[in-house]
Amino acid sequence: MSASRLAALVLLASAGLARGETVATLASPGGALTVSVTLDADGRPGYAISRSGAAVIADSRLGFILANAPKLERDFRLEGTDRRSADSTWEQPWGERRFVRDRHNELRVRLVEKRAGGRRLDLVFRAFDDGVGFRYEFPAQAALADVGIVDELTEFDVAEPATAWWIPGGEWNRYEYLYRMTPLAELSQAHTPLTIRTASGLHVAFHEAALVDYAALWLRRVHGQRLKATLSPAAEGPRVARRAPFATPWRTILIVPDAKGLYESDLVLNLNEPNALGDVSWFKPFKYVGIWWSLHLDTESWGSGARHGANTANAKRYIDFAAANGFRGVLIEGWNRGWDGHWFADGSEFNFTEPYPDFDLAAVAAYARKRGVRLVGHHETAGNVARYETQLGAALDLYARLGIDSVKTGYVADAGGIRRLDESGAPRYEWHDGQFMSRHHLKVVTEAAKRHIAVNPHEPIKDTGLRRTYPNWVSREGARGMEYNAWGNPPNPPEHEANLVFTRMLAGPMDFTPGVLSLTGRDGRKIQSTLAKQLALYVVIYSPIQMAADLPENYAKYPAPFKFIRDVPTDWAETRVVAGEIGDYVAIARKDRGSEDWYLGAVTDEQARELRISTDFLDADRRYRAEIYRDADNADWQRNPQAIAIESRDVRRGDAMTLRVAAGGGFAIRFVAPSGQ
Ligand code: NOJ
Ligand code: CA
Repeated sequence: MSASRLAALVLLASAGLARGETVATLASPGGALTVSVTLDADGRPGYAISRSGAAVIADSRLGFILANAPKLERDFRLEGTDRRSADSTWEQPWGERRFVRDRHNELRVRLVEKRAGGRRLDLVFRAFDDGVGFRYEFPAQAALADVGIVDELTEFDVAEPATAWWIPGGEWNRYEYLYRMTPLAELSQAHTPLTIRTASGLHVAFHEAALVDYAALWLRRVHGQRLKATLSPAAEGPRVARRAPFATPWRTILIVPDAKGLYESDLVLNLNEPNALGDVSWFKPFKYVGIWWSLHLDTESWGSGARHGANTANAKRYIDFAAANGFRGVLIEGWNRGWDGHWFADGSEFNFTEPYPDFDLAAVAAYARKRGVRLVGHHETAGNVARYETQLGAALDLYARLGIDSVKTGYVADAGGIRRLDESGAPRYEWHDGQFMSRHHLKVVTEAAKRHIAVNPHEPIKDTGLRRTYPNWVSREGARGMEYNAWGNPPNPPEHEANLVFTRMLAGPMDFTPGVLSLTGRDGRKIQSTLAKQLALYVVIYSPIQMAADLPENYAKYPAPFKFIRDVPTDWAETRVVAGEIGDYVAIARKDRGSEDWYLGAVTDEQARELRISTDFLDADRRYRAEIYRDADNADWQRNPQAIAIESRDVRRGDAMTLRVAAGGGFAIRFVAPSGQ
């Protein structure tokens, strides 16, 4: 073989799928994005996406390897296509904005294997102006009833050189890794959302929508910039077992010109099914405090004994603090039996209905209600889902009886360490984001919904927008939160939140638990933040339930900044990213859903900067009083983190505001619209 022919072959191999013949195309409503669906000479389906004529995703493979049938990935012919368009606006019961517009064009490609009696597979694409979603649908058919998926072959071959922000997928610590910024060509295997910026400046994020009864999608780089689906493993059998007809989750690709467009996209929510719960007005967004930070500081304990945090007197102290400061919720961890010894080893002692003897649950719950406060329930399972599921109904009934209408759940176990029992009663160990856990979480959420209880899992499965369908699934963890600043090694670096906004937060709300104004973790370790940045996080890191995580005695030391935490709402009519670059800085403006006030939060990484904020988001006919909480001129997270300047001034729409953020700093602003204007 000649050298040039060899080179051509190598080039062909490295370029991924040889381009097939385009059998259908789909344009987004505004025309910016185009999807091409292809079939190659062997009848293998593929797809490609371009933006304004330039390739974003080069021809990429589609299909499945099955456990109980030949693989489903070639010898297809096009049976037909169907098209639909939609442009509707729907209302969220709570969220980052009240109204969401869903404008897309849809293409269904019906494929059938060429041989007689061939199996059928539909590909459904939806093109929005800010991205594309697609999924596979397995129609009901005699030739393929029970589907065991061993491997999903979906690929995303990124056409242009790109930089990636990512956390590893398939590692022991679930989603709790620091974000890495590397060339995309150096990524190994990542969780989604996976965010990249291409050489020409396009911002692209890969994720999925409506992860229901399926295994989560990880992305493994197979060659160059070609990413391939890896489905989260199952303890036994195929990774996904379903009966046709069914649809996979949507594979989503945001494609926008700037970082702002990533965060402002509603594509993932739009690809979820509408509210299945009916009237959910029983859940109202709220703020909460709780017996929590002291446990992570290790000055109090979850387990019983002299240091037990969850005792009746301590609980009442937190309830009094909540009532005095307008917080609706009080979380109490360690109230129930099972925390003694190595609870995180296997959770085999947890009892979700029996309190420790020094904690009078009924009396505490009644005391809270008398003071206009609700307890926030807590179910730590340590990954022992087998045990939790046997107690789930009784545990939720108990909360419902006591007026406890939200529960934080927890799955502290290494990835792959979720314990269930198989039909014979033998233990099996699952991943936090496999098909088994996608079912488990929905079981908890729907059982809780029956009792009007909201759910907030920690060590969760990732968010894929299911809050639209199940609006009592209000928040979750699923990244490194504040607790890493108590004991993490290393703790969260100053750039962490500027990374989170454009990665993890593209999935949905996070129970980050901000507001540690003492800026001090366990044994005096320094939190890499200024005080003003702690306030900014209430606006920057969205959740409809927000904790004021610090100890009451610490808040007593900072009454002036604490006022912002008391004032800031947790439900928004509108959200705008005012400025931002992935991992560097971000400023987000949000309008209170309960008033005409706007709030703005900005955070930076380890770089001090001047941020020029245009106030175009404000209402033209109003004059606002801006209450500004900013880093003092000499603030710096390392040398002078507590230095904060609190000032106010009048602002009108269009007034430019230039504010300095310190290294590791931020600012928070409340724009008060005087009533009666
Ligand atoms: C991990 C959770 O993220 C944290 O908030 C909680 O305090 C512990 N698990 C104990 O449940
Ligand atoms: Ca955690």
